[in-house]
Amino acid sequence: MIAVPNHVAIVMDGNGRWATQRFLPRIAGHKQGVKSLRRCVEACVVRGIKVLTIFAFSSENWNRPSDEVSGLMELLAMSLAAEVPRLQANGVRLYFAGDRGRLSAKVQAGLAKAEAETAGNRRLVLNVCFNYGGRWDIAQAARKLVERGEEITELALDRAMSLAYVPDPDLLIRTGGEMRLSNFLLWQAAYSELHFSVKFWPEFDEAALDEALAFFATRERRFGLTSSQLVAQTGAPAHLDGHSVKAA
Ligand code: IPE
Ligand code: IPE
Ligand code: MG
Repeated sequence: MIAVPNHVAIVMDGNGRWATQRFLPRIAGHKQGVKSLRRCVEACVVRGIKVLTIFAFSSENWNRPSDEVSGLMELLAMSLAAEVPRLQANGVRLYFAGDRGRLSAKVQAGLAKAEAETAGNRRLVLNVCFNYGGRWDIAQAARKLVERGEEITELALDRAMSLAYVPDPDLLIRTGGEMRLSNFLLWQAAYSELHFSVKFWPEFDEAALDEALAFFATRERRFGLTSSQLVAQTGAPAHLDGHSVKAA
């Protein structure tokens, strides 16, 4: 049996390059990216992955040309409305992570509605990180603790982070060939296995996902321990256990 990660996180990168290669406007790449996401969500459900977290718009993406930014906002609003029936059919619960304050009232309402409508679904949690930055997340968690007068400890911060309701990602994938985090889950990715795919996000298909899962299955997750300690603890090499320490 191969170990399937509980929680997969993806930096969906390369939409713009995919479009440019085809002499299309960048937004056409983002639209194709939504289709790729639909395929990926369904593939994760079939493979028994429990949590999928995707990076859809970073804190820094506001600095892109204004027509691309407005195109992405529109695409989010449209996709939310269009995708909910399919999410329902697949048992997918949608959560939004990020700073909602800067989003339009229409987008904010769409997010809240999609979250409420899918709240009863249990097969897969889909976290959409939109206007999200790892540094923003750590800062907002610290602010919460200060407001509550709580001591700042690792555990308290962890519980105040925006993805506190799920265990940390076991596998973090970035498409598009770059090997960087670009301010994605800085706190939560402390012990994630990292997999980089050269495919642009619109081309990331089931076979590419399976390649990432096969990579994950060969990893020995030591969490700072030695190999022999792990064997003594679990009686099996760590790579056969796809669950993160937080979940244990
Ligand atoms: C990722 O694709 C999607 C977003 C950042 C919204 P890009 O738009 O960054 O595509 P490239 O990296 O320019 O090809
Ligand atoms: C990261 O991609 C953000 C998302 C995929 C939403 P970017 O394209 O913004 O990252 P950089 O600029 O190449 O680091
Ligand atoms: Mg990019």
